[in-house]
Formats: sequence, structure tokens, C-alpha cells
Amino acid sequence: MDVSQDIRAELLALLRLQIEYGADEGLSDAPLDRFVRVPASGAGPGSVETLPSRPAPISVQPPASPAGPQPGPVQRARQIAAGCADRDALRAALAGFDGCALATTAMNLVFSDGNPDAGLMLVGEGPGAEEDRAGLPFVGPSGLLLDRMLGSIGLDRENLLITNLIPWRPPGNRNPTDSEVAVCLPFLLRHIALVRPARLVLLGGMAAQAVLGSKTGITRLRGRWTEVAIEGLADPVPVLPMLHPAYLLRTPGAKRDMWRDLIALRRSLNQNVN
Ligand code: URA
Repeated sequence: MDVSQDIRAELLALLRLQIEYGADEGLSDAPLDRFVRVPASGAGPGSVETLPSRPAPISVQPPASPAGPQPGPVQRARQIAAGCADRDALRAALAGFDGCALATTAMNLVFSDGNPDAGLMLVGEGPGAEEDRAGLPFVGPSGLLLDRMLGSIGLDRENLLITNLIPWRPPGNRNPTDSEVAVCLPFLLRHIALVRPARLVLLGGMAAQAVLGSKTGITRLRGRWTEVAIEGLADPVPVLPMLHPAYLLRTPGAKRDMWRDLIALRRSLNQNVN
């Protein structure tokens, strides 16, 4: 192997490492040449050159105060979410929340799409690359499949509100960690309380387990109406867990189960019963 082949192999290995870390998206149209040194501002000829300074890290913990220990990010999320009087306030609170590091790697906050007054609320897992770019949930391949399936029972985004458990894209589409789920859940629960849906559909195991506080797998939870008590709502909300459309893309044989669940949803909407 000659030297240029060595360098090429090293560069390829570095690229692969970045992809493994989730850095698989260009964030601007023009590439940034990190090898070019830029002179420090005000530096004259012969002065030391420095690389561009990194942005200041975003603090995850509140600064220590003499008043005693500060609440952790989950407790802060609960306090902040509970103080939101409407969906606009909740969206603004999420946009300003510094307790979840996913916000620093995502391009956009993905809050919701559809009609908050429709009475039907769907909750997915978290945004993928397309959703992150658009700032809207379920606009990528699994969203297209979901739209087609909902269309088959006469539903579109005017008849429902759709959101996610996690409002920021995890890098490289990895699964969110337990602590990321824990810190995002209070915002989702508050969102449900503010929307007051007559029916809630939980898409996939992660959303179902988080909202229902269950460890049961989605293949056992799916297709059965249940209820969940949500803080701030006098009555429990009827819930239908379903398979996630991304799972259906990987497992077309599961579409039969999904079809059954869609019929159960349609029947409930028709009869206004669960
Ligand atoms: N998968 C999800 O769970 N949510 C999205 O918004 C897109 C894909």
C-alpha cells in the first residue's frame, strides 16, 4: 500500500466513524474546511493563528445555587411542562429547554402536525432525518405509509393531531436512551392534557410503554383498547396501541395486524365507543 492509499484508508475510516456517531447529515450547503486555519480577529502578520472557536456548550444542569441542590432535568421538565397553559406555551418551553442534549444535535424541534381539535391524537417515537429537516412529524417513508394506512379508513391530518414521544431527532436515528425518554415524557403528557383527545393512538413499543408505564411488548399491547390517567384530566383517556409504521416497512407480514387495529379505530370513531 503506498502513502496516498494509506491516507485514503484513514480518511474513509474517519468518515465511517462519524457515520457511526450519527454525523450522517450535511448541516449547510457549503462544506466547511476544518483544516484551514483562520487568523484570530485583530491578529497581525506573524501572529499565532487559531482554529475557529467552538460554540459554548449548552448547560444541562442549572447552575449550583447557595439555596441548595437544584432539581434534575426530569424534575425541571415536569415543572416547566406543568406551567404551560396552552400548546403555544408548551412548544416555546420545549424550544427553550436545555435539559435534553438531543436538542443540540437536531436541526429542528418537531412538535406536531394536524388538527389539535380533532379529538384523535397519535403519538410516534421520534423524528427521523426528513422530520428533522422539515420540523414536522411523520413526513419521511414511515409517515407516507402511515398516511396511506390512515387514508384507508378515511383519516387525514385534518382529522387528527400527530406528535412524538421525543421531539428531537436522535443522532443517526439511534433509539432514544431511557433518560432522554424520561426527560421528554412530561412534555408529551402535558401535550396530551392540553389537547384533551377523545382517543389516543400510541404507535410502537416505545411510545406505548412510556405513556402506559408498561414493560409489555407492543405485539402484546397492540389492538386492545385500554385507558390511561393523565395528570390534569378528570377522566382517563381511551388508548389504542398499534404497531409503528417503520416496523411495518421492515416486516410487511405484520400489515394484517395493523389492518385489524385500523378497523378497531374506525369502528370506535364510527360508534363513538371503544
Ligand atoms: N417515526 C416516528 O416515530 N416519528 C416520526 O415523526 C417519524 C418517524
